[in-house]
Amino acid sequence: MTRVRVSSVTFEHHREAFGIGEPAPRLSWTVVTDISGWRQAGYEIELSDGATTDRGNAASSGTATGRVESAESVLVPWPGAPLGSRERRGVRVRVHGTDGSASDWSPWSWAETGLLHPSDWQASATAPPSTLLGTPDGPALLLRRDFTLHGPIARARLYITAHGLYEAELNGRTIGDDVLAPGWTSYHHRLPYRTHDVTALLREGPNTLAATLADGWYRGRTFDRTNLYGARTALIAQLEITHPDGTTTVVTTDGEWRCATGPITATGLYDGEKHDARLHPQGWSEPGFDDREWLPADTLPHDPALLVAPTGPPVRRTETLAPKEVLTSPSGKTILDFGQNLAGRLRIRVQGPAGHTVSLRHAEVLEQGELALRPLRGAAALDEYTLRGDPGPETWEPRFTTHGFRYAQLGNWPGELRPGDVVAVVCHTDLRATGTFECSDPLLNRLHDNVRWSMRGNYVGLPTDCPQRDERVGWTGDLQVFAPAAAFLYDCAGPLSSWLADLAADQGAHGTVPPFVPWPPRYAAEHADPAWAGPAAAWGDAAVLVPWTLYQRTGDLGLLESQYASMQAWVEQIATLTRGHLWDEGFQYGDWLDPAAPPDQPGRARTDPALVATAYHARSATVLAETAALLGRPGDAARYAELAENVRAAFRREFVTPSGRLACDTQTAYALALSFDLVEQRERAGRRLVELVEADGHRIGTGFVGTPLICDALCSAGAYDTAYELLTQRECPSWLYPVTMGATTVWERWDSLLPDGTVNPGEMTSFNHYALGAVADFLHRTVAGLAPAAPGYRRLLVRPRPGGGLTHARARHDTPYGPAAVSWSSDGETLTVTAIVPPGTTALVDLPNLAEREVAAGTHTFSAPL
Ligand code: BGC
Repeated sequence: MTRVRVSSVTFEHHREAFGIGEPAPRLSWTVVTDISGWRQAGYEIELSDGATTDRGNAASSGTATGRVESAESVLVPWPGAPLGSRERRGVRVRVHGTDGSASDWSPWSWAETGLLHPSDWQASATAPPSTLLGTPDGPALLLRRDFTLHGPIARARLYITAHGLYEAELNGRTIGDDVLAPGWTSYHHRLPYRTHDVTALLREGPNTLAATLADGWYRGRTFDRTNLYGARTALIAQLEITHPDGTTTVVTTDGEWRCATGPITATGLYDGEKHDARLHPQGWSEPGFDDREWLPADTLPHDPALLVAPTGPPVRRTETLAPKEVLTSPSGKTILDFGQNLAGRLRIRVQGPAGHTVSLRHAEVLEQGELALRPLRGAAALDEYTLRGDPGPETWEPRFTTHGFRYAQLGNWPGELRPGDVVAVVCHTDLRATGTFECSDPLLNRLHDNVRWSMRGNYVGLPTDCPQRDERVGWTGDLQVFAPAAAFLYDCAGPLSSWLADLAADQGAHGTVPPFVPWPPRYAAEHADPAWAGPAAAWGDAAVLVPWTLYQRTGDLGLLESQYASMQAWVEQIATLTRGHLWDEGFQYGDWLDPAAPPDQPGRARTDPALVATAYHARSATVLAETAALLGRPGDAARYAELAENVRAAFRREFVTPSGRLACDTQTAYALALSFDLVEQRERAGRRLVELVEADGHRIGTGFVGTPLICDALCSAGAYDTAYELLTQRECPSWLYPVTMGATTVWERWDSLLPDGTVNPGEMTSFNHYALGAVADFLHRTVAGLAPAAPGYRRLLVRPRPGGGLTHARARHDTPYGPAAVSWSSDGETLTVTAIVPPGTTALVDLPNLAEREVAAGTHTFSAPL
């Protein structure tokens, strides 16, 4: 039996490599072996001919590399000719170890390209006539087209997207399991389409392609604006059927489509959906339906050059939760408690008379036993279902909306509520979970769970700030601080590379990195006011720091290459705004939500915004210099390194006293100075930071900017105990205070719920915001001790720093080279650490009271005196 096995091969960062947009997808594989110290000496890649083989079956061999002497196994260049549109290839890999071992061939992995060239698209945009469109967030519209297939079907693919949100059907069957497709991107620059294998849904003879179309982000409301990308929604679809004789039939969105209103009388992402089941035209998406009363669709021009294949998985339903409790509120309302704050919607099973309307209202928290609706601001979060009056139960789930909620109030429920009648359906980008953390403190474990739930709640195709109120946009700063934690918990490089492409596109059009991405053209036009849309530190720095984080965690240099112009443009722009390298002018969010800021002035932090901005400018210039060096641009590397040095010097001149005190005596100022290497007197600065944290009674004093840095800053000053005191603090403000208050997600504010149980009076009070959960990265790297020492975890840093009375901790992460793990336990005298180092990697092991050592792949256990 061979002791070396290659796991299945993956393409780029795709979870599912179907309908991909890369003609030469880079390949990655992991090796499973029990041979300690295993390292790859070489690999062989074989590509199948593809076109005639079925998924999973062995294929006749086309291109083969022969043995390539290389240790690379992550994002290895595509070895064959670039693929054309609609091409399918199987790939398998065999590896050879430096010890002479060899694996068998891996199973075949398959990839299929979508439509790679604008000229592949024949479809026009089919738009419901204006007379059917309501005001934005009005009715969802039905579109249908009959067609006849004169011959058997060998294979069929549907390429589909929309201006708006769509759900498509073929012959009455729903196509795919996407939710809120096509997601939200910078539609005027990049509109993702999806590829579906619909072979099994078609038949010879009459067929019907149909879709329901809603306004969504395209035309519906974001904040208080509508028609963000256009006033007309439209479907863009191209169904390509290949017959056994090789001929094809193509059915597209064109002038042959017919439209009508349907059962969804209103739907919006903020306000919810209203569905009158009596208005459902029976059989409307099947052949034989009489649509003579329906109106012909318009065809609108669209630019096929904007259509892109997705780089990550779609939004899907990922879990359902039953209510934990049915409550009766003081005013007599029926409220379901799902025990978990989540993003998604309800699915109901209800029986009653025709025309009876049930209402479902959502909220994250209760106040005095009633739904707390104020934090939703202008989002009604109200779904309504009007019954058809079937003799049996009717099942319904809204389709074009999503809510952030833990509680749901049922209105007008007919009869008794039975178990299973209402479930919560969790919806988010269907990311692959890649990281876990657990330790001996249940409160820290709950904090970590809360971070994971907040990530789930805020990945709706794009990374958003919150899922509940009338906001839910891709605030750049929130992701900038959270990206390291995100990249550990989930494989998010694919979806985030799409978001970064949007950032670059919107940056180019807007002239600076917009405060949130996508940044709709209407905002660009209306918000010339720099206080809303000007360059802001820590937010705009997402352009540089998010790609950098992803590179550190995945080793994907290609991503840095793609983003380089955007990274560079940001740093260059800020360089023109500084005076003597100090960025002290213009609007800043600063250390947003400093706990001392008044509830209605979240930007009134104690730390000078100019200090924050200059520190970030130095950081981004440093990262840009390193990026330029990696990408083989030595001129740029030298220029940006010099810029970074100049900014650092300016920072010191302006903000650091000769003895190492900072002009702002705040936790955030010291956290920035230590983390971004801006202060030479590190020992003094570290000591002052400890003093400040102690003076605050070990309560957190940082906002969005200082929070991800402070624990690391303390540890870098050797103050591990202080970092643990801060981490395990339960009094408000602290990371664990919300946990003691029953939080099941990370809150936007340290005190979104005040100690007396009332909701913070600030109008901006979400209970599902991941930014302050950035500390999860510290849990992984320092509490458990699993960190990358080289990009992509090619070298691991095993450096747990036990403390805080913890007796054990462990973390696991699926690195690009395979699963890595660190676990430790302590009996008070001895620390025992086990590390799993993936094949092809090494680890630097740095334990207290033990000499540093380098270990090879395999499982290692160490003991150290405490
Ligand atoms: C969002 C934040 C965001 C901030 C910037 C808020 O309304 O929810 O998370 O970063 O605005 O000002």
